[in-house]
Amino acid sequence: MTTPTPHPAPTVPLNDGNAMPKLGLGTYGLRGEAGTASMVTAIESGYRLLDTALNYENEREVGEAVRRSPVAREELFVTTKLPGRHHGYDETLASFEESRENLGLDYIDLYLIHWPLPRQGKYVESWQAMIALREAGRVRSIGVSNFTEEHLSRLASETGVTPAVNQVELHPRFPQPKLRAFHEAHGIVTQSWSPLAKGNSVTGERAVTAAAEAHGVTPTQVVLRWHVQLGAVPIPKSGDADRQRENLDVFGFELTDAEVRAISALESGRLWDGDPESHEEY
Ligand SMILES: NC(=O)c1ccc[n+]([C@@H]2O[C@H](COP(=O)([O-])OP(=O)(O)OC[C@H]3O[C@@H](n4cnc5c(N)ncnc54)[C@H](OP(=O)(O)O)[C@@H]3O)[C@@H](O)[C@H]2O)c1
Repeated sequence: MTTPTPHPAPTVPLNDGNAMPKLGLGTYGLRGEAGTASMVTAIESGYRLLDTALNYENEREVGEAVRRSPVAREELFVTTKLPGRHHGYDETLASFEESRENLGLDYIDLYLIHWPLPRQGKYVESWQAMIALREAGRVRSIGVSNFTEEHLSRLASETGVTPAVNQVELHPRFPQPKLRAFHEAHGIVTQSWSPLAKGNSVTGERAVTAAAEAHGVTPTQVVLRWHVQLGAVPIPKSGDADRQRENLDVFGFELTDAEVRAISALESGRLWDGDPESHEEY
């Protein structure tokens, strides 16, 4: 099914004065020439936010897509992430430079600590380096990924700088109401990874299909709209042009509160054992 080309997503303000699109493209697994081509297609369809990481091994493809696309660099929002093996102050500065060179960009819009690795105990040092990178203008906004309330509080109390974004596992199987409320109270924007609960289909659930029928949209659009109405920024990955357009086209309808509640009630837990207290990813 081909859906009409939607407009770019509206933006959400960040706590540092910048703004971020309310929906972006996940790029994990998009690699090589086909990966670059599918990212260019996404930008042509209205995507402005591309989410990558040093560990996705596709920063070169993301940078190439930015250069090949017809959209000006300033209108695009590129996120990348610091891997666990590079935690530490100097290591973070060096890792950032590696990512920036891979991307071939002068600046990065959003730089995230990929995982906290609390047993290593170095995420505060990395955060101090990220603050320095922001002050030097190498990165516009800084944030984290997979941080708990405790990790977030520690960053704020030890450095005085609260992350602009926390990118966490979030989908109808794992709606994280407590963490989202904490983010809201502290001016942190929630970003949702695996927003479609990859591999654990929620799109066949009655709560989702009933809303899709009621609004004349697809079940996937219902799930992505649910994120938007929770105030979270989903970054669905698709390498397919039609599905990319479908996924971005979620700003023209509104779910009822009852529909949002019914979808949140599909909670069953994390997709895999990605507990930030114990998961170690280098
Ligand atoms: N910070 C972290 O620790 C972390 C962890 C995991 C992921 N992420 C980020 O989050 C992004 C998204 O998460 P994800 O890739 O794990 O999962 P996801 O976006 O929830 O799901 C992606 C899967 O859904 C399919 N899909 C997408 N749109 C669809 C549609 N309209 N209809 C049917 N199927 C559709 C895709 O296939 P097709 O490509 O064939 O359409 C792909 O198999 C990643 O790419 C990455 O950027 C971050």
